Amino acid sequence: MGEEARTVLRGGNLVTPEGVVRGDLEMAGEKILRVVPGGLSEDELAGAKVEDVAGCYVYPGFIDAHTHMQCWTGMDWTADSFETGTRAAACGGTTTIVDYATQDKGMTLTEALDEWHKRADGTCTANYAFHMAIADWNEHTREEIPLMRKRGVVSFKSYFAYDHLRLDDAQTMELLEAIKPFDGILCVHCENGTLVNELQRRMLDQGITGPEGHPLSRPAECEAEAISRLMYLSELTGTRVNVVHLSTKLGLEQVRAAKRRGVRVSVETCPQYLLLDDTRYLEKGEDGFAGAKYVMSPPLRKPADIAALREAVCNGEIDQISTDHCSFNMHGQKDRGRDNFTKIPNGGPGVEHRPALIMTTFEGQLGPMDYLHLLSEGQAKVFGMYPRKGALVAGADADVCVWDPSARWTISAATQHQAVDYTTYEGFEAHGQAHLTYVMGQLAARDGEPTGAKPGQYVSR
Ligand code: URP
Ligand code: ZN
Repeated sequence: MGEEARTVLRGGNLVTPEGVVRGDLEMAGEKILRVVPGGLSEDELAGAKVEDVAGCYVYPGFIDAHTHMQCWTGMDWTADSFETGTRAAACGGTTTIVDYATQDKGMTLTEALDEWHKRADGTCTANYAFHMAIADWNEHTREEIPLMRKRGVVSFKSYFAYDHLRLDDAQTMELLEAIKPFDGILCVHCENGTLVNELQRRMLDQGITGPEGHPLSRPAECEAEAISRLMYLSELTGTRVNVVHLSTKLGLEQVRAAKRRGVRVSVETCPQYLLLDDTRYLEKGEDGFAGAKYVMSPPLRKPADIAALREAVCNGEIDQISTDHCSFNMHGQKDRGRDNFTKIPNGGPGVEHRPALIMTTFEGQLGPMDYLHLLSEGQAKVFGMYPRKGALVAGADADVCVWDPSARWTISAATQHQAVDYTTYEGFEAHGQAHLTYVMGQLAARDGEPTGAKPGQYVSR
């Protein structure tokens, strides 16, 4: 350690696994060297670069466990590359993303994972791990699962919707059986794709072609049915599952019932399902097409759903809040679906703004320990990165976010770093900002602006 550069974050409110304590955090090279309640002596500070962080909270770097960077989604390429997406993440205080490496039909898992490394390696500001999304379940895919585990992938994904991606129930069961030997976890996109296809057809038949058709074709029942099915598949196989982007009260009720039966389920929701409701699809800007900004799956929901999910967050029933960052430009991408909402690429941006959104919207209801659990520790624990990530402890990676709760700023597409031409949170008055973001000991962003460093590394789990 002697030769490595040392940085001390002095006099902050350290958000440790045991609670918030005033003191100093010392980093050396890529690791946290010491967490010192009360602070280091003047002698101990000698030779270190010292940053005064009095008045700030010092968190382990935030983790966004649901992103789609530089990805072909069946309709278009996402607007953010790994380079732009992880830079934006760091500006907002996120130091690690877990991205969905996605197998297309006809592709092997090895080819998919190699391709994701090719896209990400050497370009990232924040660290990155990969879940492996499986679209082509066959004998060869099954044989490759242990190889994926050897290459650092412990979490997998399957879809119940999207015709080019979805597995049937027997395939999903076989996948669950294949990852069980190493206690792998399956993340599942829970929407009933057969029903969605039929409801989309009916909307178009009725002449409903605009963005307002999107939520009508993906009602809460489609999510709840798929969650219920997943719960029973997990029960049948005994494999851990993670419900991604939970959006409805009805879906939450399926999870609660399953938990009472002992199903090993964890739950993710996203800021959009806690902040935005389905009246957004009726926005009249952009020549009546502004609702396309919110075309994502699952869709935005009713106020009663938002209230139920917010209550679940406050009750500790939600393990993680991540984003499902999947950005497309309004101009040149989403607008291809102007005459047919089923042709609007599904997804929205969010990786840059999640910590500020959550800490602002839950101000007065949640505190630093809750933000630790929901934005960092939960992701690290569920996806096998803890305590290397998600904890301010000696020996952990030096991924750190110094959060200034007194900062006031306004979210806007004009100033964001996400490489996309809008944000669903335009004009949102944020309370608090990432003052300093360190990735593997290097300063990656200051006061919401990137430093230009690209210290992001692959997180093998
Ligand atoms: O609309 C979305 N979220 N598109 C990305 C695919 C997914 O994970 O649902
Ligand atoms: Zn997603």
